[in-house]
Amino acid sequence: MSLNFQVPPVAAGRLPELLNIMPKAELHIHIEGSLEPELIFALASRNGVALPYASVEALRSAYAFSNLQSFLDIYYAGASVLLEEQDFYDMARAYFVRAAQDNVVHAELFFDPQTHTARGVSMETVINGLHRACVDAQAELGVSASLILCFLRHLSEEDAFATLEQALPFQDKFIGVGLDSGEVGNPPEKFARVFARCRELGFHLVAHAGEEGPPAYIWTALDLLKVERIDHGVQASRDAALMRRLAQDRIPLTVCPLSNLKLCVVPDLASHNLRELLDAGLMATVNSDDPAYFGGYMNENFTQTFAATGLTAQHAYQLARNSFEASFIEASDKQRYLARLDETFARFASA
Ligand code: HPA
Ligand code: ZN
Repeated sequence: MSLNFQVPPVAAGRLPELLNIMPKAELHIHIEGSLEPELIFALASRNGVALPYASVEALRSAYAFSNLQSFLDIYYAGASVLLEEQDFYDMARAYFVRAAQDNVVHAELFFDPQTHTARGVSMETVINGLHRACVDAQAELGVSASLILCFLRHLSEEDAFATLEQALPFQDKFIGVGLDSGEVGNPPEKFARVFARCRELGFHLVAHAGEEGPPAYIWTALDLLKVERIDHGVQASRDAALMRRLAQDRIPLTVCPLSNLKLCVVPDLASHNLRELLDAGLMATVNSDDPAYFGGYMNENFTQTFAATGLTAQHAYQLARNSFEASFIEASDKQRYLARLDETFARFASA
């Protein structure tokens, strides 16, 4: 079915509606990056945490970034209001409610435990709050969800090992590990041993690579860390041999267009290389990264990128399909989601 699915022609004026209604999976969302200024202030008040901003508006107006690091400084400050299990639950719950509105039917959430354990919040508090929100998202919103623990790459590999050790009592509550935070100067090889250990333990492996860093970091994420997906990966188009490798091995790239725009990875969305990646046969997906900070959840990422780059209904189908194929869900669930995708496109065309 899906492989032979013929995408019907869609008038350009109807494309935004199709992008909105099509079922999709989100595979690159830092749950701490979904914390909206309103919730930051509410949690600060609930927990008695002082914020260096006078109001929601003052905080939001600080969201003008020149690169990844300028964002990370504010992002880690925002996460300082998270103290109790219920805070982590409330944050993830708000994301799931918003994602469901965008017809996200499956999500794989990154979380940054070191940001919290360094402040004295226990691993148990973090994981239990997030995991409970994942369970409820399935039961109450029909969104399936799982967690991926990210190591902060600006910290040492020793710190990553200690974090893994703290998380292992809860290993049934997360499905994989990733690598995030400041990329340049913190290459994948810094974490080769801890990723090898995670591989032995049976975790799925992903890593941010080629967001601001060079194509070489994508090669080493694949060859040394043995990751199954590359987060971002947009710098791959600077290396023709790497493009061939990614296409041949069907390595998914979790691309985040509004993030790339807001962190000045691209000067404008019209210059984004998503179309180039897709047309070269790479398994690219669209994701929101840190939607509270970058001005848009999933459907905003889709509609703004399609409007700016002239992508078509065929690309929309491919992106939604890729999101399910690249996900870490069971084969039977994948088939179920892909059938639902085909139905949506067929129904839309005949309406
Ligand atoms: N890149 C690296 N680390 C991050 C990001 C990102 O886009 N968002 C949250 N942590
Ligand atoms: Zn990211």
